[in-house]
Amino acid sequence: MNKRTFLKTGLSAIGLLAIPNNLWGMEFFPTTKNTEWAILYGTWCGTARDASVWISEGMDGIADVFDVRENPDLSKYKHLIIGGAIRSGVTSNELQEYLAKHKEIVKNKTRGLFAVCGNMRQPVTQEQYKNLIDNHLAQLTTSGKIPSKVFLGRITWGLMEPDVQKQMKAFPNMEEYDNLKRSECMEFGKEILKSVK
Ligand SMILES: Cc1cc2nc3c(=O)[nH]c(=O)nc-3n(C[C@H](O)[C@H](O)[C@H](O)COP(=O)(O)O)c2cc1C
Repeated sequence: MNKRTFLKTGLSAIGLLAIPNNLWGMEFFPTTKNTEWAILYGTWCGTARDASVWISEGMDGIADVFDVRENPDLSKYKHLIIGGAIRSGVTSNELQEYLAKHKEIVKNKTRGLFAVCGNMRQPVTQEQYKNLIDNHLAQLTTSGKIPSKVFLGRITWGLMEPDVQKQMKAFPNMEEYDNLKRSECMEFGKEILKSVK
């Protein structure tokens, strides 16, 4: 038996290879709960994923957290929070397409919206709320006035596709940064929870 076959047989024997592919979300993180809440996010490099987990942490961990690429079934949830990272002024195609396809499920259930953007490392103003929330996510989810937040994000060269990294590095003074704050994400989670009580 070669090393590869040995390893595979060994892992199968202890059940590690029996994990189904669709269990890569955070439905059971940090603990299994029969929750009414889900957070759906779109990301390229993970900032919006961390924002989502920290929003849930602010809600004492009651929300299941899904990357839109998992194509989750959100029909069983009563309350949704939806957000995503921004590239070229909009969220990912996957998130936009998901929201267009599941309009009926998302409609009337969305309790919070958020965007994660670089904003040239400048403080967020009403302009970002108008562009990213009112004119983008609120329309995609057909939401009225609900708690919304624009977070500043981060740049991590090693997580970027090589061509994107090259394109970004061509901008003057562009360097890695990290402006996402866990405390702000948690605070937003608390605000949403309060708004439905
Ligand atoms: C190719 C590219 C395009 C971007 N476009 C914008 C943009 O239009 N506006 C903005 O404020 N930030 C922009 N950013 C910054 C991202 O929104 C920021 O890095 C964010 O944290 C990415 O989130 P993610 O890690 O979840 O993908 C861009 C970043 C990249 C790499």
